[in-house]
Amino acid sequence: MQYVPLGNTGETVSQMCLGTMMFGDRCDEAESDRILATAMDAGVNFVDTAWSYMEGRTEEILGRILKGRRDKLFVVTKVTKSTDGAWIRQSIDESLARLQLDYVDLYLIHWPRPHMRPVEMMEALNDVVKAGKARYVGCSNFPAWLLAHCNAIAQREGWAPLVCNQVPYNLIERGIEVEVLPQAVAEKIAITTYRPLLMGVLAGKYGAGETIPEDSRGATDPRVPAWLEKFGAGLVRFNQFAAERGLHPAQLAIAWVRHTPGVTAPIVGVSSQRQLQSSLGAFDVELTEEEYKQLADMFDAAVKEESGGSYPSLRRSFELVTN
Ligand SMILES: NC(=O)c1ccc[n+]([C@@H]2O[C@H](COP(=O)([O-])OP(=O)(O)OC[C@H]3O[C@@H](n4cnc5c(N)ncnc54)[C@H](OP(=O)(O)O)[C@@H]3O)[C@@H](O)[C@H]2O)c1
Repeated sequence: MQYVPLGNTGETVSQMCLGTMMFGDRCDEAESDRILATAMDAGVNFVDTAWSYMEGRTEEILGRILKGRRDKLFVVTKVTKSTDGAWIRQSIDESLARLQLDYVDLYLIHWPRPHMRPVEMMEALNDVVKAGKARYVGCSNFPAWLLAHCNAIAQREGWAPLVCNQVPYNLIERGIEVEVLPQAVAEKIAITTYRPLLMGVLAGKYGAGETIPEDSRGATDPRVPAWLEKFGAGLVRFNQFAAERGLHPAQLAIAWVRHTPGVTAPIVGVSSQRQLQSSLGAFDVELTEEEYKQLADMFDAAVKEESGGSYPSLRRSFELVTN
């Protein structure tokens, strides 16, 4: 396991962040405990959860299984549902109670909300930091301009800035390549990326045109069959590419995310210890530039700006700013 800087915080975290969204959902508490133990044995010290997972039950499970392990972990949780100041202050207390912790390391706004009030939000986040309930604050699913807007407010007021943006990213969902990743590089924002396997679509468990296994997330989430229909041809190429290299598709998909400039840590979510044991191999896979590019083009899913063709200068424009 490699260790990487968390944006400009001065902190170092493992390059794998363990996602816990399935704790209490597709894996029970005993299996969640085994998953955490396996991740930590592999050197993982970065754990992501949220107020909303299983209506709080995931945080409660974590609260119990973090016992004796907390000091070795950088713990992230999120405030869901609203960005109002009063709710941010209440939600952190609820999360800390369920997690049985005095503080989390990083506290994220889960989603931007229509008509949100960034000044009120940033002030409340700063209060959370001042109260010692979170060491750092950040956001999730924010466009680059909104993060910059919020951090301009923080800088003006002398408040804690957003240090991290948690966003979806995988071989098929590529929107962050346009603005979010170049911003992250230019401003040293940490980027944690969720859904590296497109909910399992990139984990080799589904074949185009085949029946979706009952015991899978695809059986209950309509996005999975829609993705399979749209990207089935690419999936055949992708699974073959993995097989030719002796890799599990999940390892290849996560390794590709890991190799993208600007990504701090992929968030690896699993439903079992067995899946984790396999996915951990992604952190030993080294892709050549040629392999990275072949994979990037495999699904014809790169972001295309619609008006007047594609604008290459908008994508991956890391060279625009020199730090
Ligand atoms: N900020 C946000 O808005 C947000 C949103 C979503 C998630 N997240 C975070 O990101 C984490 C990861 O998200 P995700 O679970 O959607 O990620 P994902 O990597 O796209 O999907 C994980 C799923 O893929 C399957 N899988 C994983 N490893 C496998 C393996 N080795 N072999 C076969 N199948 C495998 C499992 O599905 P089956 O159960 O079907 O086997 C597993 O539940 C979450 O735990 C959460 O912490 C954040």
